[in-house]
Amino acid sequence: MIETTEQYDTERIRRDFPILNQYVNDRPLIYFDNAASSQKPIPVIESLREYYTHYHSNIHRGVHHLAQLATEGYEAARTKVKNHLNASKREEIIFTYGTTDGINLVAQAWGRANIAAGDIILISALEHHSNMVPWQQVAQEKGASIEVIPIDDHGTLDQEAYAQLLAKKPKLVAFNHVSNALGTINPAKEMIAAAHAAGAITLLDGAQAIPHLKVDVKDLGCDFYAFSGHKAYGPTGTGVLYGKEALLEAMPPWRGGGEMIASVSYTESTYNALPYKFEAGTPNIADTIALGVAIDYLNELGVENIAAHEHELTTYATEQMMNIPDMRIIGQSPDKAGVISFLVGEIHPFDLGTLLDKLGIAVRTGHHCTEPLMNRLGIPGTIRASFAAYNTKREIDQFMVSLERCVGMLS
Ligand code: ALA
Repeated sequence: MIETTEQYDTERIRRDFPILNQYVNDRPLIYFDNAASSQKPIPVIESLREYYTHYHSNIHRGVHHLAQLATEGYEAARTKVKNHLNASKREEIIFTYGTTDGINLVAQAWGRANIAAGDIILISALEHHSNMVPWQQVAQEKGASIEVIPIDDHGTLDQEAYAQLLAKKPKLVAFNHVSNALGTINPAKEMIAAAHAAGAITLLDGAQAIPHLKVDVKDLGCDFYAFSGHKAYGPTGTGVLYGKEALLEAMPPWRGGGEMIASVSYTESTYNALPYKFEAGTPNIADTIALGVAIDYLNELGVENIAAHEHELTTYATEQMMNIPDMRIIGQSPDKAGVISFLVGEIHPFDLGTLLDKLGIAVRTGHHCTEPLMNRLGIPGTIRASFAAYNTKREIDQFMVSLERCVGMLS
């Protein structure tokens, strides 16, 4: 157990991530694309090997030994997620294929049953496409409209404008806990309370929050919370939708098929209890078990310790980057996770990202699936460096040397 930031042992943590120990373009890999997807520790990788070597089987269906082991593993992962989120019940934890899948589930199951002509769906200017497009689809079908909480030039949501928008009584307020493009940490608890006071249902996109913040759905008070496993040291193709039990109970199922039914005739069906009503078909068993292992890993390091470490890295990098002429850090909210989006002069993000890759440094370039946000900021995209538990100040020092060299070549 790592107790404090001072004792935070990145060298020990790095040994858990074999992928980091390699050369890319003849340089030691520096992986700063964690907001897109984090790397996986040995216990997560081992869990997949263990599952397929020893106890793969379908779940909830067989009486045999392997089916029981696989079912127990899968359901144990649900208990881990429930405890991690401080949800009231296991029934409130739906396994999905990721954040996008969870939001689509709410849009299709809750949204299509509850959004009507003339209703307002309120999103924020910081949203990822995955927390926009599903609502646009529902709004178009139902004749509802989308309104947007604006940001200031630092990338902070305008709370006065939010209060005014709530006065219009939106049916749903959907926003991200942490912005993937800028790193802004939104004041979720206060925003949720205000939305509830205005009579709205709330959904949080927690994709960027789960690896960096201690998330407590009871304390937040949100109605729905969606996240992905792959940004939190777990496998791709895994995710969780938390929903309050009463809401989930009242929602019709979305996908139809095996597992989600209670009984079926040729012409109609009755549906299974929660959470299975929303888990049609054979799920992603191995990866979901490994997601449970990733959550154990997060808790072993301590999410607060990781957050403190990433904060230190972000401050350290930002201070040095500001010394580069024509550097623009895009997104300077006072409350910010370990993401630095930036532009340098007229250099195109793609060119800088490509050159950095030649020096072994992985960053993301482009609009980060937030095209409307980039348009609002009047930029085509950014270069984004994003940090995780295993990144170090030494890597940032090397990044700075490489960044200055690349900027010199492209200026
Ligand atoms: N949403 C992911 C990102 O921010 C893919 O890069």
